[in-house]
Amino acid sequence: MKEMKFIREIAIRAAKRAGRILKKGLEGVVTVSYKGDLNLVTNIDNLSEEAIVALINKHFPEHQVLAEEGHDRTRPSPFRWIIDPLDGTTNYAHRFPFFCVSIAVEIKGKVHLGVIFDPLRNELFFAEKGKGAFLNEKPIRTSSVISLKKSLLVTGFAYDVRTDPINNFNHFINFSMKAQGVRRTGSAALDLCYVASGRFDGFWELKLRPWDTAAGSLILTEAGGRLSDFSGKPFSIYDSETLASNGKIHREMIGVLQKTR
Ligand code: IPD
Ligand code: CA
Ligand code: CA
Repeated sequence: MKEMKFIREIAIRAAKRAGRILKKGLEGVVTVSYKGDLNLVTNIDNLSEEAIVALINKHFPEHQVLAEEGHDRTRPSPFRWIIDPLDGTTNYAHRFPFFCVSIAVEIKGKVHLGVIFDPLRNELFFAEKGKGAFLNEKPIRTSSVISLKKSLLVTGFAYDVRTDPINNFNHFINFSMKAQGVRRTGSAALDLCYVASGRFDGFWELKLRPWDTAAGSLILTEAGGRLSDFSGKPFSIYDSETLASNGKIHREMIGVLQKTR
């Protein structure tokens, strides 16, 4: 599709532009406001989203937009841009250097393109449906680890962790007893890229939103990984359970997730 080439170019340009804003933002004052007790948003989240959406509006004013900080546009179009302008906001607000920009493009309800940019490491993860996954233009693949015992896993916790009993603590304990290690990085989009590139072997989380998983889910599957819900049923970026792995430890991970404490 000829248009796809241009969409790809704009998505990458937008991710890099937003990444520069995030990097530069750390040099100045970061102002924090609260969407909830734990759920932060900074002035830089908004600046980043504005820059991404401005570029999309300029070139694709007829496309739909779903963006975390509210620059949404619903109109009849087969194309939908799904944007997390800063994934890892709590890290960012504390100047902990682990965050990214995530941009995906859905066509007729299926993710066809994903770009995730980590501006501090200058790492651009990219995938297009059916064309493989790349880190800075080099192909990436998931790891070859075949047992949970040898696996490094990663997870995260939703902002309602203190108030909702469905809080992932049970799974965190169960995996900690079975895996080589479990990490919590604070950026679900990068977690998915790290499984895609073999740095982690598996990832699970509850209650993620489409902007957290849209780009990363395509990058993961194009790198040879597997995605599902916690019972092995098909994954959707609009559902609440995300299980991602190198494929080889997927069944073992489902086994742990099906356990009750
Ligand atoms: C959050 C991060 C975090 C995950 C949270 C997300 P945000 O996104 O991806 O790793 O555990 O569930 O909400 O708020 O930093 O864009
Ligand atoms: Ca996010
Ligand atoms: Ca965000």
